Amino acid sequence: MNVLAEAITALRKARHVAVFTGAGISAESGIPTFRDRLTGLWARHDPERLETAKAFKEHPQLVWGWYLWRRQQVLQAQPNPAHLAIARLADVGRENTVITQNIDDLHERAGSQGVVHLHGSLLTPKCFACHRPAELTQEQLATPAEGALIEPPRCARCNGRLRPGVVWFGEDLPAGAWKAATQAARSCDVMLSIGTSGVVMPAARLPDLALAAGATIIHVNRVDVRLHQPKELMLIGLAGQLVPHLIDLMLAG
Ligand code: APR
Repeated sequence: MNVLAEAITALRKARHVAVFTGAGISAESGIPTFRDRLTGLWARHDPERLETAKAFKEHPQLVWGWYLWRRQQVLQAQPNPAHLAIARLADVGRENTVITQNIDDLHERAGSQGVVHLHGSLLTPKCFACHRPAELTQEQLATPAEGALIEPPRCARCNGRLRPGVVWFGEDLPAGAWKAATQAARSCDVMLSIGTSGVVMPAARLPDLALAAGATIIHVNRVDVRLHQPKELMLIGLAGQLVPHLIDLMLAG
């Protein structure tokens, strides 16, 4: 049996399918991934150096401008056929959990519900000092020029600077999200792992947890990202093409 046929068989037999996504699933919606080269002005900045509390303390205008720019990119983007196909999995009467490392809302806009956001969201700013969630005005949301330095707005309660509601390097994942993700990893029969380089911990442990609990992992990626365990299937190609094809064939049986 070829890999695609094995993947379809595993999906058809599964009672619980967990979907684990990374930046690669949103690449075909026009959102740059983290470890592929950025173009434009931001190519001079290393995202890993902007995505820390230390960077925000030292260069709040640079970091706020970077996230406003990314927020705008996300709002202009549309879900692609991979996001849409994943949302269809929920319609076939089996348990389905979508876990994402992405801070965009493209799974939700495609129709997936109860999406577990391991790394928070670009769309929910909060106070750096008191952590209170905050709303931004239209004026504060104005699209900055790429690379612009923008002073972060202030918290209405404590006057601390607002920061994006995302998880930065060195910060803990939201406890509820991590618990839901590990429970899904341990209880799924198949984990569909799409468009992630699998290098950022602790999220990258989820496929290991699923494998250890006996699940099959189906990777979809432009490159081979196997962990070289027996129950792994690797589908190499673009998520926007492979994922809808896989789900169509699964549902046709
Ligand atoms: N289809 C399938 N896979 C793709 C596509 C595509 N169209 N485009 C890129 N990829 C793959 C790349 O081959 C790579 O393996 O997506 C992966 C993207 O990897 P990263 O850029 O490392 O993104 P991700 O794994 O989500 O990063 C994890 O790192 O910086 C942090 O918090 C950030 O959530 C992010 C985390």
